[in-house]
Amino acid sequence: MSDHPNRPHVTLVSEVTVDGKLTVTRGASSKLLMEFMSHEAEVLLHQVRADSDAIMVGANTIRIDNSFLTVRHVTGKNPIRVIPTSKGDISPDSNVFSPDADTIIAVSDSATPEKISKLTAKGAKVEVCGAELVDLPSLMTILYEKYGVRRLMIEGGSTLNGLMFHDGLIDELLLIHLPFIAGGEDTPSLVTGLHPADVNDLLKVRLDEQFLAGENLITKWHVIRS
Ligand SMILES: NC(=O)c1ccc[n+]([C@@H]2O[C@H](COP(=O)([O-])OP(=O)(O)OC[C@H]3O[C@@H](n4cnc5c(N)ncnc54)[C@H](OP(=O)(O)O)[C@@H]3O)[C@@H](O)[C@H]2O)c1
Repeated sequence: MSDHPNRPHVTLVSEVTVDGKLTVTRGASSKLLMEFMSHEAEVLLHQVRADSDAIMVGANTIRIDNSFLTVRHVTGKNPIRVIPTSKGDISPDSNVFSPDADTIIAVSDSATPEKISKLTAKGAKVEVCGAELVDLPSLMTILYEKYGVRRLMIEGGSTLNGLMFHDGLIDELLLIHLPFIAGGEDTPSLVTGLHPADVNDLLKVRLDEQFLAGENLITKWHVIRS
C-alpha cells in the first residue's frame, strides 16, 4: 500500500555490478548481465513485478533492451507497463506493446499528434503531462488516481532513476548485486543526473535487509526523507 496521499509507493529494483553499473558498456543491453543472475534472484525480481500494480522503465531501456516487462518464473499477473518519453519515440515493433498487459506511454507537450496516434494505434494508452520532459510527480498522480496504481516498481535505466530521485519519488531500493566490475566511465550506473553541492546534499538511504538469493547478494534500502 502507499504511504502517500496521491502517489504510489515506489520501489526501484536494479541489477548492479560491484561498481554500481547497470550494464557492460554504454549502449549494451542489461540482458547480457542478467544472464548471470541466479535462478533465486530471477524469482525474486519477478515476484516484485507480480506484486506491483505497474512497472516503469525509461524509453532508452526499451530501445536498447526491448523488454517485455512481464512476469515470468513465478505465477502472477503482469503489471501495467509505463514508459516515459518526451516526444513518444518508441518503435511500434517494441515488445512492450505485446498483448500481455496494458501499456501507458507518458509523453510531454512536445509529442506531435501523429506520434500519439501511432502509439494509440498499437493499443497503448497515452498520457500527456509536462512541457518538455514528462512531469513525473503529475504522472504519479495520474497512475494513482486514474489507474489505481498503489505499488509502482521502477527498473531503470540510470536517467529515469536520477529524475525520479530528483523529484523525491523513490521510497525504497532493492539491489541485486552481480559479481562483476564494469568500470567504463560512460557506462550507465544506478543513478545519473544528480549534482549534490556537498555531503549534506547527498541522498541518504538506510540498509533494511541483506541476504543471498542463490549466489547473488540482495540488499534492500529505505530512502530517508530529509
Ligand atoms: N541493470 C539493470 O537493472 C537495468 C535496468 C534498466 C536498464 N538498464 C540499462 O540502462 C541503460 C539505459 O539507461 P539510460 O539512462 O540510457 O536510459 P533510461 O533511463 O532507460 O531512459 C532514458 C529516457 O527515458 C525517457 N525519460 C525518462 N524520464 C523522462 C521524463 N521525465 N520525461 C521524458 N522522458 C523521460 C527519455 O526518453 P526520450 O529520449 O524518448 O525523451 C530518456 O532519454 C541500458 O543500457 C539498459 O540496458 C539496466
